[in-house]
Amino acid sequence: MVRRVTIKKKQWFTDDIFGLEIYLPDIDPQPGQFFQVRVSTTYDPFLNRPISVVSYKGGTLLMIIRVLGRGTKMLSQKEVGEDLQVLGPFGKALRVKKKKSLLIAGGIGVAPLLFLAQKMHGKRIEFDFVYGAKREKDLIKKSHILQIAKHAIFVTEQGRSKMTVLGALDMLDVESYDIAYACGPKTMLIELQKLNLPIPVYAFCEDFLGCGCGLCLGCAIMYKGEYKRICEDGPVFELEYIEFNV
Ligand SMILES: Cc1cc2nc3c(=O)[nH]c(=O)nc-3n(C[C@H](O)[C@H](O)[C@H](O)COP(=O)(O)OP(=O)(O)OC[C@H]3O[C@@H](n4cnc5c(N)ncnc54)[C@H](O)[C@@H]3O)c2cc1C
Ligand code: FES
Repeated sequence: MVRRVTIKKKQWFTDDIFGLEIYLPDIDPQPGQFFQVRVSTTYDPFLNRPISVVSYKGGTLLMIIRVLGRGTKMLSQKEVGEDLQVLGPFGKALRVKKKKSLLIAGGIGVAPLLFLAQKMHGKRIEFDFVYGAKREKDLIKKSHILQIAKHAIFVTEQGRSKMTVLGALDMLDVESYDIAYACGPKTMLIELQKLNLPIPVYAFCEDFLGCGCGLCLGCAIMYKGEYKRICEDGPVFELEYIEFNV
């Protein structure tokens, strides 16, 4: 269903990461789910852009977006009071397991993990948060993460720590966790898969989508030997079984 909403609040976190708050009552979005956002009132660009839920409280939904190309640039030019069309929520709701968890975020991949973290916090599930970005200023919502995670590690590729988020895993006893959730660039997920962690890792796949609602098959990935649609069957899949090279 297409919903026309008004932008209630806009916030720039960095020079290319911004947040939009909209009021969207009577929905019950779950971790893993996302909205298809129309960036223009014309057919150009034609495709909607998938954006995750970062938080949802009292009907107010927050999205945090990194400007990557034309669509996200156009979204970044929208201001408070302007209309926005959104469709969704799409994607399979992730069933949050009551297990000691490790959240691994790379760059803007932090967005859906913030929502997962919020839900875990609400259910008193213990979790640690490892979050890496290029620059210190790209690490958004740090104080919020510190408040709700049992332990948090922040690293940057440039600056003091000079470490990737996967490098930071060496500082942890990964076997002490029951489960991990990861979101970040595809290259990060591929490298994470190669690490063969001794616990199940659930990956939030944020590849390029077409229709976003299961019809075009433009988002197919090979998973457990079968094609699956990121938008409809995912976007969360167990990392071990994703065949990235297909
Ligand atoms: C389920 C899901 C949830 C997402 N949640 C968020 C979110 O919460 N916040 C956020 O900032 N982004 C999120 N993304 C990514 C976001 O949808 C893309 O960055 C956006 O669609 C790019 O649109 P654009 O018009 O700015 O870029 P385009 O002009 O379409 O593309 C610019 C360049 O980036 C490449 N590209 C486009 N999309 C992607 C992608 N998804 N991954 C890698 N390369 C890409 C293109 O091939 C092109 O080279 C999510 C994606 C998915 C599938
Ligand atoms: S994007 Fe069309 S089926 Fe997934």
